[in-house]
Order: sequence, then structure tokens, then C-alpha cells
Amino acid sequence: MTKNYYITTPIYYPSAKPHMGHAYSSIIADFFARFKRIEGYKVFFLTGTDEHGLKIQRAAENNKKKPLEFCDEISKTFKELSKILNLSNNDFIRTTEKRHHKSVQNLWNILEKKGEIYLSKYSGWYSVSDEAFYLDDEVETKDEIKVAKSSGSLVEWLEEESYFFKLSNWQDKLLELYEKTDFILPISRKNEVVSFVKGGLKDLSVSRKSFSWGIQVPTNKEHVIYVWLDALTNYLSALNYPDTNDEMYKNYWPADVHMIGKDILRFHAVYWPAFLLAADLPPPKRVYGHGWILSGEEKMSKSKGNILDPLEIINEYGLDSLRYYLIKEVSFGNDGNISKNKLISCINSDLANNFGNLCQRVLTFTEKNLELKVPENEFLNNDDLVLLNYFNENYQKLIDYINSQNINSYMNFIVDQMFAANKYFNDQEPWKKKGDKKRLNSILYTSLELIRKISILLYPVIPQSSLKALNIFNIKENNIYLESIKNNTFLKSGLALNKIDILFNKVVSND
Ligand code: MSP
Repeated sequence: MTKNYYITTPIYYPSAKPHMGHAYSSIIADFFARFKRIEGYKVFFLTGTDEHGLKIQRAAENNKKKPLEFCDEISKTFKELSKILNLSNNDFIRTTEKRHHKSVQNLWNILEKKGEIYLSKYSGWYSVSDEAFYLDDEVETKDEIKVAKSSGSLVEWLEEESYFFKLSNWQDKLLELYEKTDFILPISRKNEVVSFVKGGLKDLSVSRKSFSWGIQVPTNKEHVIYVWLDALTNYLSALNYPDTNDEMYKNYWPADVHMIGKDILRFHAVYWPAFLLAADLPPPKRVYGHGWILSGEEKMSKSKGNILDPLEIINEYGLDSLRYYLIKEVSFGNDGNISKNKLISCINSDLANNFGNLCQRVLTFTEKNLELKVPENEFLNNDDLVLLNYFNENYQKLIDYINSQNINSYMNFIVDQMFAANKYFNDQEPWKKKGDKKRLNSILYTSLELIRKISILLYPVIPQSSLKALNIFNIKENNIYLESIKNNTFLKSGLALNKIDILFNKVVSND
């Protein structure tokens, strides 16, 4: 039976061009998508742009453009970024697409028919920048202006007729969902959400009347649907919802993970499952709220003028270096920042000196002594097997790390094995074994197998470089199987190896 896996990134606001924070969410999701693919899953990986609402309407006005024209332009830059980041997404959804409109209006109709939505009047605070409603005790006055405590965003007083979703009905069901499963990770985030929900849920305003850039309420043309109800539904539209008999829906819903930043946890972990439960649809299996990539000590924002541009880093250091850094150096779940010094030391020590050097040394040696062919493997001794078996022994553990989004343990495993393989090559001193053919063959065979296994584990992290390394053995992208790391004699003796260019150049710091 095929095993399916559905992972999503948040859909990004095309209000300004993408920055490092967006790149981070996408790279992380891509890492999981690629891992699950080589593990043998049929993966559907979705990303896209969130194009309605007052925030976008105002951004378009400021740029003297019509909203759709403005969205077309900026959404394109997000699509381009997904190529530049080498994302393996299977679809890119835009909320201005027909398929999405249909899906959202359908969900609305179901909620309305079930009596989960009613018409009333909203009066309270609203932040356009967060597209969120706030209660009195969630706002404060700073420098004489009212801002949301959680985000620091400006809030405006709002009074208008609005449809409400009966969120207050779902408190117990939500708490049950949080307790029964690992629905919210990391745990610290789960605790925040649980205490928010235990504090009592108010009904949620789900339509707006004072502007028009959105999806119309099907039964009342004067209202547009609240942008978060609209946006969250993208996860279903891409599966051809409302057709619940469609293969896409049947194979991929409920989603395995919505990968999001901690700033949008409430929408994903409270509102989204409540909408779904109210419509009799299963909630996603997990919402993972990762931390922020800070610029200095602060979250990046246009108003603070501290935006880190992923393209600059990629142009200077290369994509895989950036991917490696974000995946390995940021303690996953917590905030992290990008320091050039740390990035350079990562490239030099882990990638160039450690992994790159291992590949280079072993290949050069094989070329000089074994005509660049895989040697015999009949006489592997205990030193060799201990290292090789380590992958087999930890196979399930590696999968468990990924299933619980424990990226850092996964990366520690790889780094330890890169060190161990280098140490092995040094300690075994193959250059002194030229007279002992059996031993020489075993050392080189083991070293080549270690390179193969490590390269496979690196594939989700640094796909381009991993593929270069795997090309030594003629292994192509469609033929990478995680399970093959359990095999100590995968490489056939006599196989001709391909040479590789230098994988990573060392970077000299100018500081
Ligand atoms: N459009 C909504 C999401 C709708 S999902 C149904 C939105 N868009 S956003 O463009 O403002 O940000 C989306 C995501 O980008 C954040 O949740 C987070 O995952 C990521 N990041 C934005 N800034 C970030 C950092 N500084 N650091 C890390 N990730 C951040 O919210």
C-alpha cells in the first residue's frame, strides 16, 4: 500500500517581497518533504500566497496598483524564490484562483447550513498588519498609540455588521484534541494554546463589510469572508475540496503537518481545527510552530527596516550553505539568528573540512590505488562493521526524529557520522596498507559506503550537494532510498566511480 504524506508551508502575504523568515519556513518544510519521499512516501508538498484582505488591498493602493495586478507581481517573486531555494513543492496555490474561491464558499455554506455562523455586530480592535481581532486586554498603549501586546502591531477600532462563527462551542472539543494527540508541537507552544483556550473562547468575527478585496459571502454580497477563514482553506482547495471523493483529498487529508511560524499558531491551532470540526471534516494531524529568524535581536519587519534578504546570502555563500545553516544551527522550535561568522564556520568546518574533504580524500586515494573502482568487500573487520552498522542500528531512530520534527537530533547524528568517517580514514591509515591488499580494499570499501550513507542522509538538507556526492556512485535523484543506508554492501565491487568537483569551497572571513 502506498503511504502518503502531506506537508504545507504557510501561504505568504504578497504585500512585500519575500525575506529570510519566509525562506526559513519553506526550507524547513522542504527538508521534511524530501526526507519522507526517500523514505518511500508519496508526498504532497504545498506552498503559495495569501492574497486577500485589507492588508493586501492597502499595500496595492500604496503602490498605486489594482489588488490583483499587485498580487500577480509579488506572488511571482514568491514563486521564483521557491525555485531559487530548490523547493520540491508539488503545487503553488494562490487564493485568488477559482479553485480556491469555490472551496472557501463551499466551506462557508456548510458552516452556515449547520448553524455555526450567525449575523451580528463586531465592535473591538483589529490589526490590519496581523489581520487579527484583539480583545481589550490584548492591546496596550505605546507612545500614545494602541498596539497588540503579542505582535506590537498597530490596532484600529472597528464597528460593523459581521458574521460570527460559534467558536465558543468548540472549547472542549479543542482541548480534547490537544490532549489526545501531539496536535501542537513543540510542547511549549502547546501549553500556550491550551491556556488560551482554557481561558474561554469568544465567537469569532468571520466577515467584513467595509472593504471588498476578498471572497464574497455566498449568501450576502455585502460581506467578504474574513481573510483567515479564506487563507486556511487553501490547505483543502489544493486537494480539490469540496470533492471529497477526489483522489487528492482521499490520499492527503488530513494533512500530516502544517509547518508554520509561532506568530500564526492561534489561527492554525484554534480557529482552523474548530472550523473543520464544525464542518464535520477531520482536523490536520499536526501543527508545528517554529521560532523566528531574528535580525539582531528583533523579528524582521518592513517597518523596522531590518529585513534579511535570502538572495544576498545565497549569492555570496550558495544555497546549500544557507539551507545547512538554517536547518542545523537554529535550535528548531526556538528563535535563531543569522550571523555571518557562524555561517562561515559552518561552511568551513562541517561542509568543506569535514564532508567535502572526506569525499575528496577517499576518491583521490581510490583513483590512485584502485583505478577509481569499488574494491572487494569480503574481508570487512570489526572496525569497519561497527561504523557501517551504526546506520542500520539507528534507522528507526532517525525516522522517529523526523516524525517528531526533532531536526536537531537528526543533524547531530549526521555531523557525528561525518566526524567518525573522517577519523576512521585517518586512524586506518590506508596509505600505509598498500602492501596489504585485503585490508586496503576493506578500508576503501567502508569509506565509500560511509560517504554513500551520509550523502543520503544529507539529501533532504542540501539536495544539490548530496546529489553531486551521490553521483560518485551513479545514484540519481529518483533512486535514492533511505532504506539503503541499512545495507553495508550496497556498492557492487568493480563499479566504476565518477570523480567530483570540489563540493564546498572554504570561505575566508573578511572580519
Ligand atoms: N498569510 C499568513 C499565513 C496564512 S497561512 C494559512 C501570514 N503570512 S506572512 O507572509 O506574514 O508570514 C508567513 C510565515 O512566514 C510566518 O508564519 C512564518 O512561518 C514565516 N515568517 C515570517 N517572518 C519570520 C521570521 N522573521 N522568522 C521565521 N519565520 C517567519 O502570516
